[in-house]
Amino acid sequence: MWHCELKVFLILWTVSQVYIPCWGKKFISRFESINGIEGEKETLFTCSVRLVGRERMLNGSIMHQVDLDDSFDVWMDILHFKNGEWAQGNIKVRTKPCDWFTNYFGKYFLPLVKDSNLPPIQEMCVFPKGEYYLRITKIEPQNWPPILYRGLNQFNINYVRDGKSTGGIQFVIDLEDSTL
Ligand SMILES: *[C@@H]1O[C@H](CO)[C@@H](O)[C@H](O)[C@H]1NC(C)=O
Repeated sequence: MWHCELKVFLILWTVSQVYIPCWGKKFISRFESINGIEGEKETLFTCSVRLVGRERMLNGSIMHQVDLDDSFDVWMDILHFKNGEWAQGNIKVRTKPCDWFTNYFGKYFLPLVKDSNLPPIQEMCVFPKGEYYLRITKIEPQNWPPILYRGLNQFNINYVRDGKSTGGIQFVIDLEDSTL
């Protein structure tokens, strides 16, 4: 099931980038919130990042108590706000940490981060335990997939072991098309 969803997602993502190069490539974004997600039984990954200033820049750190190796799965669900409530969106990813950090995080998020001790993309499999800071980082999404909804998107990223979340990150970001 998730294989199928992931494939459809990747195909849409690729198609949209190849065939519609000037549609939705640039977003205007605004962070509304960012929080850690508590694990169900234990929390191995925590996030203490705050939004600072009018520009809502990210400042803080994430703490990984263990290596994120193949014994974990990464689940990403994106909900969107519609008719006054959060609804499951069209993006649901179930994958392994190496794929997650290389093909999603490393591609779409890491390039936006300028001042941080996050490991380079080549050193994210296995993603080593440790504390990683982000300093006053403005997230200006570039090349994010145009299939993302405009409006409020709630990203839920969980690091899962044996079917149970062991912590993660949730953030809400408002996305609009750039008219430029
Ligand atoms: C950013 O975080 C660092 C470390 O936690 C803190 O010392 C600094 O005051 C923060 N900056 C702002 C603008 O909140």
